Amino acid sequence: MAENLDKSGGERRVQESMEITLRPIELSDADDFMVWAADDKVTRFCLWDTYTSKEQALNYIKNCAIPHPWLKVICIGNRAIGTISVTPGSGFDRCRAELGYVLSYKYWCKGIVTRAVKMVASTIFNEWPYLERLQAIVATDNEGSQRVLEKAGFQREGVLRKYSVIKGKTKDEVMFSLLSTDSFV
Ligand SMILES: CC(C)(COP(=O)(O)OP(=O)(O)OC[C@H]1O[C@@H](n2cnc3c(N)ncnc32)[C@H](O)[C@@H]1OP(=O)(O)O)[C@@H](O)C(=O)NCCC(=O)NCCS
Repeated sequence: MAENLDKSGGERRVQESMEITLRPIELSDADDFMVWAADDKVTRFCLWDTYTSKEQALNYIKNCAIPHPWLKVICIGNRAIGTISVTPGSGFDRCRAELGYVLSYKYWCKGIVTRAVKMVASTIFNEWPYLERLQAIVATDNEGSQRVLEKAGFQREGVLRKYSVIKGKTKDEVMFSLLSTDSFV
């Protein structure tokens, strides 16, 4: 990660080059994976529980993340800081796929996931020509995630009442979508 130390004003500010790349996940990402997966602030809106051991992370990476049809780590300088995934539907649902993402707390509010979502949206319809709809389902109180999708050009379709149980509470969720025919932001 490129760092420029700026000591102006008596304060040490660290400016990081936030150029991001997406790549397949590896077992060697387990320690970095734990940075976000073991953080309650990050997992608050996720369906899965906060991770408590590196072994859990290794099992997930090996058994779920590596075999996943489309899951990448979001990287700065090849170091994993989050993940973004597209899970395809099958059978009658094959026209659509569901987007998911998570980012280490340290990197929030720097435009990173908005950029990652735009990168995915600009390529996935070419990669999977049968795909017509990319959707994302977000808890109504997850403002950051809703903003990401709006900024990436997704359409807010409506609220799904009492849709999922997240950390023991049943939540209303917002359905967002981007169609292959939508103009890309
Ligand atoms: C939600 C999340 C993915 C946002 O990623 P991010 O890289 O911080 O988002 P961006 O920096 O691209 O922000 C996009 C917009 O959302 C806003 N935003 C980001 N986090 C926010 C928050 N917690 N509350 C309110 N607004 C927020 C940003 O200010 C920005 O808006 P602006 O450009 O109008 O100022 C990230 O906070 C995260 O990983 N959260 C935990 C996991 C999660 O919720 N995943 C999604 C489940 S549906």
